[in-house]
Amino acid sequence: MAVDSLTPPVEGPAFSPGLEGVPATHSAICDIDGRQGLLTYRGYTVGDLVGQSSFLETAYLLIWGELPTAAELRAFEHEVQMHRRVSFRIRDMMKSFPSQGHPMDALQASAASLGLFYSRRALDNPEYIVGAVVRLLAKIPTMVAAFQLIRKGQDPIQPRDDLPYAANFLYMLTEREPDPMAARIFDACLILHAEHSLNASTFSARVTASTLTDPYAVVASAVGTLAGPLHGGANEDVLTMLEEIGSEDRVEAWLDQAIASKQKIMGFGHREYKVKDPRAVILQKLAEELFDRFGHDPLYDLARRLEQAAATRLGPKGIYPNVDFYSGLVYRKLGIPEDLFTPIFAIARTAGWLAHWKEQLGANRIYRPSQIYTGASGRDWMPLQAR
Ligand code: SDX
Repeated sequence: MAVDSLTPPVEGPAFSPGLEGVPATHSAICDIDGRQGLLTYRGYTVGDLVGQSSFLETAYLLIWGELPTAAELRAFEHEVQMHRRVSFRIRDMMKSFPSQGHPMDALQASAASLGLFYSRRALDNPEYIVGAVVRLLAKIPTMVAAFQLIRKGQDPIQPRDDLPYAANFLYMLTEREPDPMAARIFDACLILHAEHSLNASTFSARVTASTLTDPYAVVASAVGTLAGPLHGGANEDVLTMLEEIGSEDRVEAWLDQAIASKQKIMGFGHREYKVKDPRAVILQKLAEELFDRFGHDPLYDLARRLEQAAATRLGPKGIYPNVDFYSGLVYRKLGIPEDLFTPIFAIARTAGWLAHWKEQLGANRIYRPSQIYTGASGRDWMPLQAR
């Protein structure tokens, strides 16, 4: 039976694949100008925040909407510091994970397990909201670092209360106190990855939040979404791609072949930006700072050659480097394993997910979009023996 004769004319907004261009909420958290390549958090440019702020101060701004006073920032930093430790039950659970498992799967499982330890759904209690914000910001880095040591067969090490947020994470990960410049650059990377309006994982967070489940489930849902190679997982794939190209003189041929075979070039393109991602511009400068201090990385020269070659071939389509193109080169110079690049993205984006969780609760209506039905209907039952 022809479907279209049974499908009534569709009322309401037209269907847009991937909801491209479809507003799904009002939000005051982050604004992106994809044509100018501008990104602001609560009205402040990321360039100012990277130059003047810290990740925790930026997280405070994103979540509560205003920059903290000195006293408010000290109290917030202290609260996060006091909640960095993770229950031995979660550490023991992580010890049962297969060591070859991807750290994003370990993070999603351990983030969800936090919901077992804290009262669920006291969402009308401001203290519960603050507690969840502090616990998730504090414990996500500890869990990422813990799985790194556990999968190497070692016991995780406890956070150091005398180290600030970024330095403490690098210490828990490498068991060495980081160089102050490395810690500063890592903190800047966290600021750059903290928030980006209604990207796929943040949309996941808002949809999950709209059912009034607990914030740990909200973050676990977002972590799972971020893991995909078209989203947060691209940073890991960029290095694999650069290593596959191998040398600068192979860039043009590799790129022409990739474009001819309709391959997506990892670290390039963006739904919003039609120019180079402003975060990629800053990350490139941070990478160069690290190379000047700690030695060059020839993969960087290859990356720049690929960017130049892509500019002529893909630039006319508005396809330029995004946040993931240079971030991996920064993390690699900091000695971070490639499969931890996306968990680090998750550490930073927890600030944005929490800001959107709080905003969603402030004016909530459960997400339930419609669809355009294209399946069959009105069919007569077919007994098994007649099929
Ligand atoms: C992040 O949304 C966010 O804000 C995300 C993020 C954040 O901070 O949260 O910025 C983080 O996810 C960055 C993106 C990381 N992903 C990658 O680098 C993977 C490679 N990029 C692509 O898969 C793609 O660009 C997306 C997923 C990022 C965007 O996809 P869209 O907007 O759905 O674009 P599309 O796939 O519909 O492509 C439109 C056209 C197509 O060509 P035509 O069929 O029209 O001829 O552009 C082409 C695509 O083939 N295209 C690419 C390309 N990206 C788009 N061609 C080659 N290489 C690419 N990377």
